[in-house]
Amino acid sequence: MPIIPKSALTGVITGWGRALPEKVVTNADLEKTLDTSDEWIRERTGIERRHIGGTTASLSIESGRKAIEMSGVDPSTIDALILSTTTPDRTVPATSAAVQHGLGLRCGAFDVNAACSGFVYALVAGHGLLAIGLKRVLVIGTDTLSRITDWTDRNTAILFADGSGAAVIEAVDGPGQLLGWDIDADGSLEDLLYAEIGGTLYMEGKEVFRRAVRIMVDSAEKTLLAAGLTTSEIALVAPHQANIRIIEAACKRLEIPMSKVSWIGNETGNTSSASIPLALFEAADTNRLKTGDNVLLVGFGAGMTAASAVIKWRQP
Ligand code: ACO
Repeated sequence: MPIIPKSALTGVITGWGRALPEKVVTNADLEKTLDTSDEWIRERTGIERRHIGGTTASLSIESGRKAIEMSGVDPSTIDALILSTTTPDRTVPATSAAVQHGLGLRCGAFDVNAACSGFVYALVAGHGLLAIGLKRVLVIGTDTLSRITDWTDRNTAILFADGSGAAVIEAVDGPGQLLGWDIDADGSLEDLLYAEIGGTLYMEGKEVFRRAVRIMVDSAEKTLLAAGLTTSEIALVAPHQANIRIIEAACKRLEIPMSKVSWIGNETGNTSSASIPLALFEAADTNRLKTGDNVLLVGFGAGMTAASAVIKWRQP
């Protein structure tokens, strides 16, 4: 359990941005090509529509630009860019290279691939860079899962979609926002959810569902312990938006009411790396967060990975 040393320099989020492709695909649209129904998809997943389109770089540049503008930082002073994605535009180089160029940054840039847990991995890594001397880090979570989805497979085509969320984190002198964190992976489970290079996603949905609930709860509990908090002290949860029933089951075990959950999966589907920042910043943009609120970010994904973090929200 990683306890953050009191002397560690950390940071706060000072700007954020979201990006979703314009094209919307509804459950009714999927009914036309798949043996499924709007009712089945809504009841089993909570998803009603999703956004499809763009590239990982284009969506990242859009969300990243908004985050930089909101923070007001001079782009030339950003020290590092971390892009979480499981759908890079090219095998080589990392998609962060194209994003760095598109945003006009001159800084270190690298990709992180921890599937749907990736944004939290990247956020934790970003805070680590601040702790060892950087001043400003741009963290982006983007996926274009539609490009690796088999649109004839009703097991997966109803779930996956595209989007991006970005945050500028800046070093602060006093205590930072990160109170606790956990990253985890169990590579023995990689065959439950994978795509070969050039292939489409294969998923054992039922088994992923079962394990997802357990690993989300486990990761959240570790993070809460590290932060010295109980679930009753959490004001908002921004969970991975895979399936409303997974979130309900995990929150029930954590004894967190659904009224504290940011759920946007009905509008976005599962956008993997983008899902947690989209849920977090939707809550921030709709005034659901105020300075001092403890926010739990928690996700799971292919790997199987899990990650969570508690941040003390500071309204810029
Ligand atoms: N439309 C209609 N019927 C369907 C559909 C569909 N789209 N998909 C499956 N069915 C049928 C099945 O064939 C089955 O029929 P049967 O009873 O006659 O055999 C029945 O519905 C029930 O199927 P289940 O697989 O048991 O349905 P379940 O309630 O488990 O829901 C789902 C399936 C939505 C995939 C669920 O298991 C799930 O969400 N799993 C987790 C997926 C996930 O989160 N993946 C992302 C991980 S994150 C990442 O890294 C990308």
